[in-house]
Amino acid sequence: MTEYTSILTSTRGRVGWITLHRPEALNALNSTLVDELAHAASAFDADDAVGCIVLTGSEKAFAAGADIKEMEGKSSRDMAMQNPFVGLEAFSRVRTPVVAAVAGYALGGGCELAMTCDIILAADTARFGQPEITLGVIPGLGGTQRLPRAVGYYKAAELVLTGRMMDAAEAERAGLVSRVVPAADLLAEAEKVAETIAAKSLPVVYAAKEALRASLETTAAEGLRFEKQVFSSLFALDDQKEGMAAFREKRSANFTHR
Ligand code: CAA
Repeated sequence: MTEYTSILTSTRGRVGWITLHRPEALNALNSTLVDELAHAASAFDADDAVGCIVLTGSEKAFAAGADIKEMEGKSSRDMAMQNPFVGLEAFSRVRTPVVAAVAGYALGGGCELAMTCDIILAADTARFGQPEITLGVIPGLGGTQRLPRAVGYYKAAELVLTGRMMDAAEAERAGLVSRVVPAADLLAEAEKVAETIAAKSLPVVYAAKEALRASLETTAAEGLRFEKQVFSSLFALDDQKEGMAAFREKRSANFTHR
């Protein structure tokens, strides 16, 4: 098992867990944390025994954003040349579905990190926002692109231009979170969702995620064509035969996970 300093990892059943762990900085995303997150996620992604990843933080903070103290003195040239968040781009491209289990602050890069995930479960204590404007910058990890797609232009514009935070109930109404649960139940609910996904056929889950992602990245017409091709191609897998036979025989499907 790799030794990390800013995250904790574990595997339970077919679920890989990544816990952001910089309590002294409310899990602010510094370069070490970002590199470790990318490394851990790609290791889970390469492992057939992992069918879903849960990403979580602490009770107080999922992540309070990019590390302001690390960024403060950098020049524009440093930011361009060092590309400090390249690990988050890698994280956003893993094939394995990721469930974000968010309690407390998910601000700036923390909100943006949650938005790279596939499902966002929020504790009733969660608070989401893009406060970068208050720091004299703008969101730099997708906040101006993924947030309007999730909540619509006008809600996103208000949040990005004012830096205001939303509580969990408002985030759910706006469409940013999949579901709000009591804080005490957050990890158990995340585990339940992740186990449900991890019990499905892994190649089919990859295909479903890829088709869903196409909805964010292409036109509807291209996305529909892509979906149709992927749907047809899945009939080449044993798991399609198994899934449909299981329905006919009134039993649970026994997928191969490879
Ligand atoms: N970067 C670095 N350190 C941070 C941090 C961050 N984003 N957020 C919190 N911390 C540190 C604080 O400096 C503090 O450390 P010290 O004890 O050494 O001073 C520690 O974490 C605890 O934080 P607070 O004392 O501030 O805790 P609080 O409960 O009073 O307030 C908070 C919580 C409202 C989340 C407040 O910490 C805060 O506003 N944090 C910054 C949020 C922010 O602006 N995020 C956007 C960052 S920029 C970005 O993300 C750019 C991008 O898109 C790429």
